[in-house]
Amino acid sequence: MLPTIDKETVLKFDVPGPRYTSYPTAPVWTEDVGADVYREKLTAFGKSDKTLSLYIHIPFCESMCSYCACNVIIRRHEDKYGEEYLRYLFKELDLVREQIGSRKRIRQFHWGGGTPTFLNESQIERLFNKVHDAFDIDYDGEVAIEIDPRTIDKSKIRTLKSLGFNRISMGVQDFDLRVQKAVNRIQSYYVVREYYDFCRALGFGSVNFDLIYGLPYQTVRSFEDTVHDVIAMRPDRVALYSFAYVPWLKKHQNKIDQQNLPDSEHKIDIFLKARERFTLNGYLAIAMDHFALKEDELAKAFLQDRLYRNFMGYTVKPADEYIGLGLTSIGFLENTFIQNEKIIGKYFAALDEGRLPVERGMVLNEDDRIRQYTISGLMCHFRLDKSQFRERFGHAFDDYYAAEQGHLLKCQEEGLLESNNHVIKVTELGKLFIRNICMGFDHYLQQRKVAARFSRTV
Ligand SMILES: C[S@@+](CC[C@H](N)C(=O)[O-])C[C@H]1O[C@@H](n2cnc3c(N)ncnc32)[C@H](O)[C@@H]1O
Ligand code: SF4
Repeated sequence: MLPTIDKETVLKFDVPGPRYTSYPTAPVWTEDVGADVYREKLTAFGKSDKTLSLYIHIPFCESMCSYCACNVIIRRHEDKYGEEYLRYLFKELDLVREQIGSRKRIRQFHWGGGTPTFLNESQIERLFNKVHDAFDIDYDGEVAIEIDPRTIDKSKIRTLKSLGFNRISMGVQDFDLRVQKAVNRIQSYYVVREYYDFCRALGFGSVNFDLIYGLPYQTVRSFEDTVHDVIAMRPDRVALYSFAYVPWLKKHQNKIDQQNLPDSEHKIDIFLKARERFTLNGYLAIAMDHFALKEDELAKAFLQDRLYRNFMGYTVKPADEYIGLGLTSIGFLENTFIQNEKIIGKYFAALDEGRLPVERGMVLNEDDRIRQYTISGLMCHFRLDKSQFRERFGHAFDDYYAAEQGHLLKCQEEGLLESNNHVIKVTELGKLFIRNICMGFDHYLQQRKVAARFSRTV
């Protein structure tokens, strides 16, 4: 049962903080890790028998949604941009494959963006086949793509199916026209419904919707209507993201009048009502911001503590190592984060010179790995088993985190955590403020070594 959340509680926890899609967080990574380190790690990976998760980033979109915090380049839809980008992706893929030196198995394959279906059908086919020539794609694993219902068509969806994609993720966000106008993203319920039904008719086994709460003009009531329409379609999974308002990073967010955003108390109420609607209608609330039909494997994995989280979201089928291809994409291999160039000119220039287009990264030390495990455990399972921690790292949890005991105690007093000699467990209230709990384990944040401004935790 969820405790009543008063305004004071919400305000107390509403602070800027990371979303922990990675630990250490990206602002801590440095240019000390460049193409040389990446080459070494790729070679080591090639000699191992580890499996691979491959992410490909297509940065283009036809128009800018004013809330968007993704890495996006706006282009009118002309084939030439896709052609040019593809040429460079192929160069990058060749360099990566050559450095790995052996044929690897892809357990999780994900195309994200931007909007991957900005590419035309021939480009999609050529990119897929290029990867297919270089790696063994596990078609029983996840082969996923993000699509924007405003810019897709049935023929393209058919192509995706015939290539072997088995998961579709659709950007829906909100069905309310007033909200849609305020964020420059008009898409009717009927268009989404049409493509959703078409995906089902073609036999896509897994369809995910993305929604965002905290957008301008949203109210508890208006968003409940959106959730109602979503539940009527019954997507397998729903990602319900908290609007990350970061106008100092994404200048186009200044087009949103801050006055029209729901305040933090109202924002939490919108989330809680949506969560209630989903959970009363056959969905299980999973980790921080996901819902899955109870029979979906993600829901089963969550209940059995078998859930993993990476940049591509939550997964049941984690690979050993991650490689990202394309502008801004992120990989994690041999305990090292690698991020590609964020400026397209620099990305192209590096590849023209035959260099891997790495911008920055970070080699994790032992403390980073221990904290990565701790934060990821809390984010995915809302609990940590102290004996498993000792087995894995050879340290008693409470001794290792002696300096964090004050934070843990405070979290307990505030009703966010319960702790005994064996386990720490996040309470129902703590689930809403999981980022605040994790922040206490973030060495760089605590030591004030992070110079970035983050979105707010509520
Ligand atoms: C790459 S986009 C999805 C594919 C496609 N471009 C589309 O929008 O339909 C990934 C998702 O990130 C989420 N997103 C983007 N900006 C966000 C923000 N500022 N706060 C929270 N979620 C955001 C949206 O839900 C979006 O669907
Ligand atoms: S939400 Fe999707 S379509 Fe809109 S700008 Fe961002 S990536 Fe592009």
